[in-house]
Amino acid sequence: MKANVVEIGPRDGFQNVKEFIPTQEKLQIIDGLVEAGFKKIQITSFVSPKAIPQMRDAAELSEVVLSKYKSLQVFALVPNFYGARLAVETGIQELTPVISLSESHNMANVKRTVNESVEEIKQIRQTFPDIRITQDIACVFGCPFEGEMQVEALLELVGKLREIGVDAFTLCDTVGVAYPTLIERVFRAVKTQFPGVEFNAHIHDTRNMGTLNSYVALLSGAYSVQTAVGGLGGCPFAPGATGNTSSEDLIYMLNHCGYDTGINFETLLRTARFAREHIDGNFSGHHINISEHPCFVAQK
Ligand code: COA
Ligand code: ZN
Repeated sequence: MKANVVEIGPRDGFQNVKEFIPTQEKLQIIDGLVEAGFKKIQITSFVSPKAIPQMRDAAELSEVVLSKYKSLQVFALVPNFYGARLAVETGIQELTPVISLSESHNMANVKRTVNESVEEIKQIRQTFPDIRITQDIACVFGCPFEGEMQVEALLELVGKLREIGVDAFTLCDTVGVAYPTLIERVFRAVKTQFPGVEFNAHIHDTRNMGTLNSYVALLSGAYSVQTAVGGLGGCPFAPGATGNTSSEDLIYMLNHCGYDTGINFETLLRTARFAREHIDGNFSGHHINISEHPCFVAQK
């Protein structure tokens, strides 16, 4: 059985780190992730440097990664048309615009109403018809400002975005409030309403349900799950948002359960430890916090 796991730490993980991580160190971590076996990595975001100063090296970093790793699937988050244009000019072929299911979080995050964001995504689609758009939808399972979200509202938003030509979607549990039956219900609903469309899962581990929810998402039809090395991560514009599901925690589980992830746990854990040595961030993964004694299961 194959399981697609996509690394998003260099974007979601790094964006929440205050102190600037030198580009060279970001690149070393990306090298480690490629060596571990990741085939697809969200390497950065093209956002306003005033909003997230950590991402001010997006173009420089992307140029290096794109020229070094020709077969790596590289994608980047963009909050607006401005960022999309910068990313495309740098050579990025797959964009992740971000929109929130909740008006309040969309406003806090990208200073636009949901409809304004839809219009801007339409502009991105029309201006760059050959670019793949994998749309992030934030706060699908709950919002820090508005609480519970409705599946019907999600179906409506996905419908609008499909109409304007969005290729694929990532359903994000931005503040980590989801639970297995909700994940199952939401993924089944979108898969039923939009058969053949790619839906991915992006789950924060705020309530220690990241690996479980990611696993349930895979069982419920998610094409891939997104994770961050070391369990770094969080949206600076969503109060209470903490780390993503840790890549090494999920890979440990999937590899042992017999899934073919194509990712080497040891190399990944080494990369996570390298990241923690160099970055002053909140590493919420479990494996990274286990002391370094040899462990029989880690040998696999
Ligand atoms: N990349 C680089 N610079 C950008 C930019 C982008 N994508 N978008 C806007 N800017 C610059 C503008 O050039 C302008 O610069 P100036 O003040 O020197 O003229 C400045 O940022 C403000 O531009 P404006 O259009 O008024 O944007 P804004 O202030 O309304 O900010 C966003 C809106 C969306 C651009 C900004 O809030 C942002 O980038 N947020 C990041 C959201 C995010 O990444 N969240 C976490 C991931 S989910
Ligand atoms: Zn996230």
